[in-house]
Amino acid sequence: MILALETSCDDTCAAAVSHDGEVLSSVISSQGIHDAYGGVVPEIASRHHLELANAAVDDALRRAGRTLDDVTLVAVTQGPGLVGALLVGVATAKALAAARGLPLVPVDHLQGHVAANFLRAGGRPLMEPPFVCLIASGGHTLLVRVEDQVGFTVLGRTLDDAAGEAFDKGARLLGLPYPGGPALERLARDGDPGAFAFPTAAGVTGLDSSFSGLKTALLYRVRDLGEDAARARRADLAASYQHAIVETLAVRCERALEQTGLDRLAIGGGVAANGPLRDRLACLGVALGIPDRTLCTDNAAMIASAARFGEALRFPAYLALDAYASGERALA
Ligand code: KG4
Ligand code: ZN
Repeated sequence: MILALETSCDDTCAAAVSHDGEVLSSVISSQGIHDAYGGVVPEIASRHHLELANAAVDDALRRAGRTLDDVTLVAVTQGPGLVGALLVGVATAKALAAARGLPLVPVDHLQGHVAANFLRAGGRPLMEPPFVCLIASGGHTLLVRVEDQVGFTVLGRTLDDAAGEAFDKGARLLGLPYPGGPALERLARDGDPGAFAFPTAAGVTGLDSSFSGLKTALLYRVRDLGEDAARARRADLAASYQHAIVETLAVRCERALEQTGLDRLAIGGGVAANGPLRDRLACLGVALGIPDRTLCTDNAAMIASAARFGEALRFPAYLALDAYASGERALA
């Protein structure tokens, strides 16, 4: 059984996953303390990971009905993410592996989001490579071609903000709490997606995307409406704004499928939990891999999934492992 840790941002996650990709438990402890600051404060996140990491591991083992004796492999997110936060996971994983004489697999967070599609659901793997995958999270918006279980090639990326960042910044403008994605999706349910025409990065050709103009358009629209009217039309603003993000992403997915000639699309990352995006992509007429919502937002089960195909390091080689803040290391 694989025991995995994921601490790249503000969720302290641990999971137990079998070597054939069945999720035995997945614990996600959301810190819930960053709302007061309107975003994640790295130093506070690291300190909370320190307090929560061992408890999350214990909880993951208990919920799986297993003990440390059942663990045969330790996996951990090495990057990209907040370095101080990542280091807590990396140090915890090293200590566990060293104390138990176990091998350790360092995992790239983005490869983890892709690998959520390799976890078993209903007794079979969800997706067989090659396929196109949209990774849309708070820090990344990438369209990739997944060649096999260990690598991908980047086809397109955002030129500025990530899609999740666009949700978070839009939500903030509408007075919603952090993280903005789920809150904005909830508010948008009562609104009309056609009420306002927001830009969908139509000027950006190819497979790249852009969201900074959209955020500015919302800012100007809220200002033009004035405080009272903007408040009265919050749901319409949210629905129209969300519609623009969904369209921007869906059009790129469609183009990527056309360009690659592939007929399978998978999605991952927090934004992949968005209902209207999932519904829109389901209409593209290709085989669609959508992990369960709890496997789209940050979790450790996806890290364990990726570790099944990664290179296991033995003691003492992994003691030299360091976290990395940025970059895409999982390229084919
Ligand atoms: O993958 P993730 O959990 O963490 C990162 O690796 O960044 O993604 C978090 C992002 C946040 O920006 C959050 O607002 C967004 O995913 N998100 C959503 C939804 N749930 C989370 N965006 C839109 N709709 C959602 N339901
Ligand atoms: Zn993520």
